[in-house]
Order: sequence, then structure tokens, then C-alpha cells
Amino acid sequence: MSDFEFFLLVSLLIFILYVILNLFKRNRPSNYNLPPGNMGWPFIGETIGYLKPYSATTTGAFMEQHVSRFGKIYKSHLFGEPTIVSADPGLNRYILQNEGRLFECSYPKSIGGILGKWSMLVVVGEMHRDMRLISLNFLTNSRLKTQLLKEVEKHTLWVLDSWKENTPFCAQDEAKKFTFNLMAKHIMSLDPGEQETEQLKKEYVTFMKGVVSPPLNFPGTAYWKALKSRSTILNFIEVKMEERQQKLDEGNDVEKVEDDLLGWVLKNSNLSKEQILDLVLSLLFAGHETSSVSIVLAIYFLESCPTAVHQLREEHEEIAKAKMLSGQKDLTWDDYKKMEFTQCVINETLRFGNVVRFLHRKAIKDVRYKGYDIPCGWKVLPVIAAVHLDPTIFDQPHVFDPWRWQGSVPATTSPNNFMPFGGGPRLCTGSELAKVEMAIFIHHLVLKYHWELADSDQPFAYPYLDFPKGLPIRIRRIKTV
Ligand code: HEM
Repeated sequence: MSDFEFFLLVSLLIFILYVILNLFKRNRPSNYNLPPGNMGWPFIGETIGYLKPYSATTTGAFMEQHVSRFGKIYKSHLFGEPTIVSADPGLNRYILQNEGRLFECSYPKSIGGILGKWSMLVVVGEMHRDMRLISLNFLTNSRLKTQLLKEVEKHTLWVLDSWKENTPFCAQDEAKKFTFNLMAKHIMSLDPGEQETEQLKKEYVTFMKGVVSPPLNFPGTAYWKALKSRSTILNFIEVKMEERQQKLDEGNDVEKVEDDLLGWVLKNSNLSKEQILDLVLSLLFAGHETSSVSIVLAIYFLESCPTAVHQLREEHEEIAKAKMLSGQKDLTWDDYKKMEFTQCVINETLRFGNVVRFLHRKAIKDVRYKGYDIPCGWKVLPVIAAVHLDPTIFDQPHVFDPWRWQGSVPATTSPNNFMPFGGGPRLCTGSELAKVEMAIFIHHLVLKYHWELADSDQPFAYPYLDFPKGLPIRIRRIKTV
């Protein structure tokens, strides 16, 4: 028997053993009062149905059918594990608030494989607390007000001013360019357009394709290419790290060293080199992908809602006029705070678009909720998108309606019902930065341009969100600005 045949035989035996054990587990009598649901096929369960792409402004056929058949809390077998899926706002909040006590962050192993075992999405307990503190310290409100807002405006203009009239281009590429440049500057003081920034961006695109592809580590697969890109990116970050460290060791230029996240981490934390590398990579990932998709979604939704664009333009023209009269040029925190209708547009974009649709958790104790048991060790998926699109919570949830956020609407004021940034001890640390990015981008977009779709396109959930054609748009410059 050849090595290969032997390998196949062993793999087959392991698989059969797994299926038998799994069946045995399923048939094991238990006293648990599990929610209703369907465990699907052995091993794969219902994963294929759950991951089938669907229009991102819906919850998808799988979710719709399961909720109407079993209710907002149901059991399933997903990502190789028995799972409780929740479209229930109360349970979702309960899960997130009880992080570390009853539930724990638990992303699929492949995510750890590619983002790194020290990635912020993967680490739990004390290590998570330490890394979170670094990320919070770096994204403080005072830093946002003084430094980041200026950088956001500079990078917005850098991208928007490069747009050519009447030549269609992909809005998704442009939004990615904007958020990538911003994060690269913020994390490693890289400037847009420079050769090393562009090279890093290229590697990052390959890396991202692997993050969202099946974890098949064979030569030629997207995952395999992404792992190669990961090590190239880490080498790059390592070189930057050594440069900062050298400056610190020499004791000169401390101000400059502190200016980016890398320098800050080296000065203020005791993390190992490997941990810093994974932290930096995970921040680049968390801070770049989500906010770029949110900006593209805003461009997409607004294109079909001229009344909202009109109202936005009025709001931003007033801010721009006041700035001209006072002789100020750059946007300030006070200007940002005046963007009230813009905040409604941002909320509605996040509610309707659902950049992050569900989170991965597992129960670390037996939990009872609304009479149902969630057994220790089971996977738990709080589906935040299902709440945002629930007609019993949001009136006409499938309509883009920024005005629903004006005044105090009961459904929208409850923190259970609107959780685009998650919640509890893992609440997104970049939520305010993301809103600033969206607001400043919208400010200059509506003042500078009219835009329309150059080709039909719409967002799909794979479940990560993507526009298949990259949202091609055509712009016209507004002459008065
Ligand atoms: C609209 C844009 C964004 C959305 C919708 C978003 C959404 C989220 C969500 C839902 C989580 C929770 C994940 C979980 O609990 O498993 C999260 C975590 C996180 N986000 Fe964001 N995010 C956005 C932008 C950003 C930005 C700009 C940054 C900046 C660096 C950022 C950094 C992070 C970090 C570091 C975490 C991990 C927090 C922790 O584990 O303590 N995010 N984000």
C-alpha cells in the first residue's frame, strides 16, 4: 500500500469514527430542553444552507425559513458544531453582556489560522483585556478629536479628488483605498501612494481573499495564497517594528515614535513580538474592511434615495458656509457634531446593510434562557442582522429610511435592538472612528459630486458583505464648490 493510499484509508476511518460518535451524541438521551430546530446532515449539519449567499438587505432564505418554522431561537449544526442560533434581541444582548461569564468568543479555527492565534478576534480572558486596552487607548475620544479627524479628512480628499467625471469606476475599490490608507497611516505611519504602501495593499487584497474563503491549505487555493501573504505582511510589519524599536533604544525622536500604533504598543505594553504582529494585523483587518463596506453601502443606498441626498447636502452646505465665514478650513469636532441628519443616514446604513451579520460565541456553562437550555460547549450565534430587519421591531425594515432615527423612536432607542458594533466587553473599539470616517466621507461626497450607478449591482452576504461588481458608479462634479 502506498503512502497516499494509507493516508486515504486513515482519513476514511477517522471520518467514519467521527460520524458514528456524532450520531451517538445526537441520540444520547438528555434532560436538556433544547430549542426546536434541525441538526441536518452528519458532520456538515446545515452549514451549506446557512452560508448560501443572499441579498444583504434581507436575512436570507435559511434564516427566514428557520425563524418562521422554529421561532427566533433555534438549534442547528453549523461550522461542525451543535449550535444555538438567536434572532432574539434579548438573548443576543444577554450573550454579549455575559462574555467571559457564561459565553466566550469562539471564531472558527480557520480565522485563528489566518488572523493569527493572538488576533483580537480570537484571544479571550486576560490577554483579550490587555489587547483591548491597547486598542482603546489608541482610539480615545481625545485622539479622535485632535489627530484622527484631521487624518480622516485628508485621506477622504486624497481619494475623492482623484475621481474623474463620466468615467465609471468601482466605489468599493475607492472606499477600500480610503480606509486602508487611513489605517496604514494610523498604525504604521505609511503614506498613501508610496511604493511600500501600495505593495502592502496588494498583499493585503490576497490575504483578505483567504480570510473569507474555505480553509483549504493546498498549493494554489485562496487560503494557501493568503497564508503566504500573511507572512509577507508580518515580515513587513516586523521591519517597521524594528525601526521603531531602534529609535526608542536610541532615545531620540520619542514624539515621532509614539505617533503611530506600532510605536505606542512598543512603548506602553509588554506584549511579545509575535503578539504585537497579530494585534497589528487584526487591527488593520478590523478597522479597514468593515468601515469601507459601510461607506460603499451608504453610496449605494443614497443613490436610490434623492430626498436624503438633498437633505444631506443642505446640512453640509450650511456647515461649509459657516466655515467659510469664520475663515476656517479643516473640519473640526464641533462641525462633526453638527452633522445630525448624517448620523441618521449612518445609523440607517448600518441597520439596513448589516456589515457584520452575526457573531461567533460558545457557551462555557449550561445556560437557561426563556425556558430553553443552551448546553455548555455548544456554539451560539447571535444574529444581529435578524433583529435589525425584524418587522416587529423596525417599521418597514426593508425600506432605507434615515428619518426613522430622528426624534426618539422606541424601537431604535433600545440598545437591544440596534447593535451594529456588537456589545458587552467586546463592543467594537473603533465604532466612533468608523462613524467619523463615514460622516466626513459623506460630507465631501455630497458637496463635491452627484453620482449614479454605472451598472446594476447590489450587496450580497457570503456571509461577509460584498458587491459582486464592486458597485460601479459615474460621478458629476458640482460646479459651485
Ligand atoms: C462600520 C464599521 C464597523 C463595524 C460595523 C464594526 C463592527 C464590529 C463588531 C460587530 C465587533 C464585535 C465582534 C465580536 O464581538 O465578535 C467589532 C469588534 C472590533 N472592532 Fe469594529 N467595526 C467597525 C469598524 C471598526 C474600526 C474602524 C476599527 C478600528 C480599528 C474597529 C476595531 C475593532 C476591534 C479592535 C474589535 C475587537 C474588540 C474586542 O474584541 O474587544 N472596528 N467591530
